[in-house]
Amino acid sequence: MKFDILTLFPEMFSSVLNSSILNKAQEKDLIDINTINIRDYTTDKHNQADDYPYGGGAGMVMKAEPIFRAVDDLKLASRDIAVIFLTPQGDTFNQDMAKEFAEEKELILLCGHYEGVDQRVRDELVTHEVSIGDYVLTGGELPAMILVDAISRMIPGVLGSEESAIQDSFYGDILDYPQYTRPQEYKGLKVPSVLLSGDHAKVDRWRRKKALKKTLLKRPDLLANASLSKEDKLLLAE
Ligand code: ADE
Repeated sequence: MKFDILTLFPEMFSSVLNSSILNKAQEKDLIDINTINIRDYTTDKHNQADDYPYGGGAGMVMKAEPIFRAVDDLKLASRDIAVIFLTPQGDTFNQDMAKEFAEEKELILLCGHYEGVDQRVRDELVTHEVSIGDYVLTGGELPAMILVDAISRMIPGVLGSEESAIQDSFYGDILDYPQYTRPQEYKGLKVPSVLLSGDHAKVDRWRRKKALKKTLLKRPDLLANASLSKEDKLLLAE
């Protein structure tokens, strides 16, 4: 998967995207993260990527021409690339979207700034508008990093074992069960004895019950949409 990130601030990306799992995924050529400075596609002597809004009003608007040129350049090789514009006005990002985007070969992520981008970019170039939640950030860079991370980990081989993605919260519709590691006791706080029992069926049952109960308490909306078995319903009633 190739991510082309169009931004006015490419320097924001290096530490996050070149660490840990995403760094390994790039070394293994499973993902390629290509940050592109929109300013490089300006043609005036001041390299101006934004301008005053027609009709007046506060703030600046990102100009259409450099963004069109940058996208045209990327689309020379392949015309059929999704262009995702990060904006609080977009559809709220979720795990299903991460899975769908992970099936693409290439994605263009356009990071907005200032008061927004010229509407002609949104009308003509953008194929998806995506928000990461109902709050307003200073720009689309952090949201773009979140998409790259969530999408990359759905690509086979990026995570150590594919199971770790499959067993996650949301993948199986409900929240995770609690996890423990050594030591068995810390500051008087003990690991639940069932996890030390070696009885795998018992452990599975305990985990499922904990996950179901936690979901009921914290995200009943998820439980309403989850496909629950007869055993699940009995565990919830216990
Ligand atoms: N740009 C600013 N805020 C944003 C948000 N919540 N999601 C996506 N892009 C944004």
